[in-house]
Amino acid sequence: MSEVKTIAIIGSGQMGGGIAQIAAVAGINVIVYDTFPAALEKCKAVQKKSLSKLVEKGKLAQADMDAAVGRIKMVGTLEELKGADWVVEAIVEDAKVKKDLFAKLAAMFPQEHVVLASNTSSISITEIATAAGAGASRVVGMHFFNPVPLMQLVEVIPGIQTSKDVVERTIALSTRMGKTPLKANDRAGFISNRVLMPMINEAFYAWMEGVAEPEAIDGIMKLGCNFPMGPLRLADYIGLDTCVNIMNVLAEGLNNDRYRACPMLKQLVSAGRLGDKTGRGVYEYPAR
Ligand code: 3HC
Repeated sequence: MSEVKTIAIIGSGQMGGGIAQIAAVAGINVIVYDTFPAALEKCKAVQKKSLSKLVEKGKLAQADMDAAVGRIKMVGTLEELKGADWVVEAIVEDAKVKKDLFAKLAAMFPQEHVVLASNTSSISITEIATAAGAGASRVVGMHFFNPVPLMQLVEVIPGIQTSKDVVERTIALSTRMGKTPLKANDRAGFISNRVLMPMINEAFYAWMEGVAEPEAIDGIMKLGCNFPMGPLRLADYIGLDTCVNIMNVLAEGLNNDRYRACPMLKQLVSAGRLGDKTGRGVYEYPAR
């Protein structure tokens, strides 16, 4: 199978933008699609800031940054993704929206060699693949972590329909993008979020029950367990809405009420306190 030349990324949020960035640094042409022009503009600015930081730290040469920026094209229609030989979806964590998209993608990319990857953090790859109909064997989970340019892991998740060849190619592409791929099977939350999210949820329960204030909960986990961020700070960083969505998928997919989202976490989401992205979640983030 020939080397991947052009990756299409669907969604220009923090995950899509980060995946585009590392693909471009790895020498791959990237087309980023988003329906919102403002989101594409923001994506460009975030990428520039991240790449400049890497140059400043001597992790990337200025010429390589310039070349990477030159490999990224931003587009406003799905049609303009045609010609790509790999697709990574990084849109909202909503099973129905993803399934509708994969049905469209399978029709748009009928070629056998085009892989349709999802960056979903917890939704069943088997379900998404089923929506892709005849393209099911080309659907795979390719789960990156935030911030994508710094985090080493790609969790690779085959659905039951995914071909062995597609899994091997996903592992090879992740490695080419400078990451370490590790495989997990297709159960709700895979490994990363099955283990991480209940811990974050438990931190919200501890706060709600008055066991300690957020600063103390995070401080205890940072200093006592060597976490780079405490669980409540990390929840803000991930997005509290995303945390609730993932807990819902775990509760539903693993048939167990112990995965229900903590009422305190849901309450902050209802109040629009979604974390870093809205300037306030558990903590406040003055505009940067
Ligand atoms: N690109 C380039 N540089 C970046 C960057 C980016 N996207 N983000 C941060 N940096 C730089 C900072 O600018 C900073 O540079 P400086 O030293 O010159 O100031 C440096 O990295 C270190 O950052 P900070 O000083 O802000 O703080 P930390 O030392 O704590 O590092 C961190 C930041 C790497 C984000 C670290 O806190 C960390 O590893 N946190 C945990 C992240 C994590 O768990 N991610 C997984 C989330 S779960 C997920 O994504 C899955 C999903 O499905 C939910």
